[in-house]
Amino acid sequence: MATSPDGVIVYKSRYGTTQQYAEWIKKELRIPKIDPERLDGSILSACDFLVIGTPVYQGEMLVRDWLWLNQPRLSTKRLFFFIVCLYFTDAEKRRQMIADNIPGSLLGGCEFHFLPGRVNVEALTAEDARLMNGQAPSPLTHVTEERIRPLVESVRAYGAGRVISGPA
Ligand SMILES: Cc1cc2nc3c(=O)[nH]c(=O)nc-3n(C[C@H](O)[C@H](O)[C@H](O)COP(=O)(O)O)c2cc1C
Repeated sequence: MATSPDGVIVYKSRYGTTQQYAEWIKKELRIPKIDPERLDGSILSACDFLVIGTPVYQGEMLVRDWLWLNQPRLSTKRLFFFIVCLYFTDAEKRRQMIADNIPGSLLGGCEFHFLPGRVNVEALTAEDARLMNGQAPSPLTHVTEERIRPLVESVRAYGAGRVISGPA
């Protein structure tokens, strides 16, 4: 029987939407989720893959600086990203978000899943409310557990492939 490879979920979230997806993914894949700042060498060396979650603010992923700081350590791993944002269906904006945030050295090992974000205007800090500039998007209701399915299936397929093609 195929065993799951070892992996962890690392994510950042400001208002909880990315965290919600991370919890659903954790429940499905049964792998731990940890704060990116706690991903030390010993945890990383035990991992075959990482599931990395991040929202996007003003075009910038919250994990951007962490990715650039850690790119030598991450470049040997399979990386499954879930990127939580409002423009999750816009191909040009998606391409731009990747180009602006993901170090080129990581791109070969990455897979990207864009998931719908949401904005609760009442919860925003004064600064974020100012950045939204009164353009409150209509409430989004499609943050659902179903959205994680393609990512979960991809990670499972990766695990199955490793077992089939791995050393005897
Ligand atoms: C001030 C502000 C700026 C945002 N900028 C972007 C953006 O540039 N592109 C985008 O697609 N979504 C943008 N969003 C939407 C967020 O990515 C979305 O609200 C996401 O669900 C936040 O996730 P979190 O709760 O995990 O922090 C922005 C939201 C706010 C409040």
